Amino acid sequence: TSPEDVPPKKCLDDFISALPTREGWARPLIQYKKYWFNPVMLKHILLAEQAFVPRADDIILAAQPKSGTTWLKALVFAIANRARYSFSDHPLLTRHAQDVVPYIEIPGAGTGHSDIESSLPSPRILATHIPLSLLPPHTTTCGCRIVYLCRDPKDVLVSRLHFENSFTKASNISMDNAFSMFCEGFSPYGPLWDHCREYWEASLVRPNHIIFLKYEEIKADPVQVVRKLATFLGIPLTQEEESSGVAQEVARLCSFEMLTSLQVSKVGVTHHVGNEVYVRSSSFYRKGKVGDWANHMSQEMGEKLDAIVEEKLKGSGLVF
Ligand code: A3P
Repeated sequence: TSPEDVPPKKCLDDFISALPTREGWARPLIQYKKYWFNPVMLKHILLAEQAFVPRADDIILAAQPKSGTTWLKALVFAIANRARYSFSDHPLLTRHAQDVVPYIEIPGAGTGHSDIESSLPSPRILATHIPLSLLPPHTTTCGCRIVYLCRDPKDVLVSRLHFENSFTKASNISMDNAFSMFCEGFSPYGPLWDHCREYWEASLVRPNHIIFLKYEEIKADPVQVVRKLATFLGIPLTQEEESSGVAQEVARLCSFEMLTSLQVSKVGVTHHVGNEVYVRSSSFYRKGKVGDWANHMSQEMGEKLDAIVEEKLKGSGLVF
């Protein structure tokens, strides 16, 4: 998009309310270009379009929601700040991993694009779920680094379903309904395959600026991914850091077991979007496993979703 496509700030609500709306998930979603968004998020995406100014030294963490964004935030925050904090007295032990890295399009307590602009010193670490084609102007060309994280769509779907049903006691979306909506590409920030494909293709063209990671790859060897990320970010581990086990420390600090053992992950609320969206701190952690989909959908459903994704990604070289 270019900023000219986006209406002035005061007309945004009218613009959004005229877009196609569909119900089915915990909250109705609005379609903008080919993607589906929560209306509050869409408003902030359009605002970011006008207000967000990327910097060449920004580190942007991008992911389809429920792909492990929280984990990626923790990892990159720990890698980038490893000289600043000791592992025994680290901010991640007392602050929610979601809160140490602000989102470009999701203003929370003291974060959000206007505050990001004025208050965060460089180099900034920012997160986003915005599809590449809808990122604010110059984000992909200003020289900043983008880390994209994807995950087996079947596990994303199961994680999404549980997340949606955690919003309120009344939310009770069935697996069957979630499955058919997801297979149509109708999910928050979906279709998932277009989201992944855009970042994947950009990572092939500009590998020094966009790295494409998979959740399963981090699960298999988190220490190796810590090294890989540090190198990509231009801050490779030194020989001395290697000898003192820094990569292992980062991986341990950010592990599911460590983060879920912390009080800050268990109580309270993180994530406010204005006063409109509250999410329990604990909702960002569930099982943290690869392949949990098999406990929630049939083999046949799994194969059907795989076939859809394969077809949508045909020719891209990206496989799950
Ligand atoms: P599950 O619901 O499958 O357990 P996001 O952060 O993008 O919302 O993704 C949430 C998913 O990542 C959840 O998946 C959550 O449990 C998992 N997750 C969060 N922190 C993790 C960590 N440190 N290691 C592995 N998985 C993690």
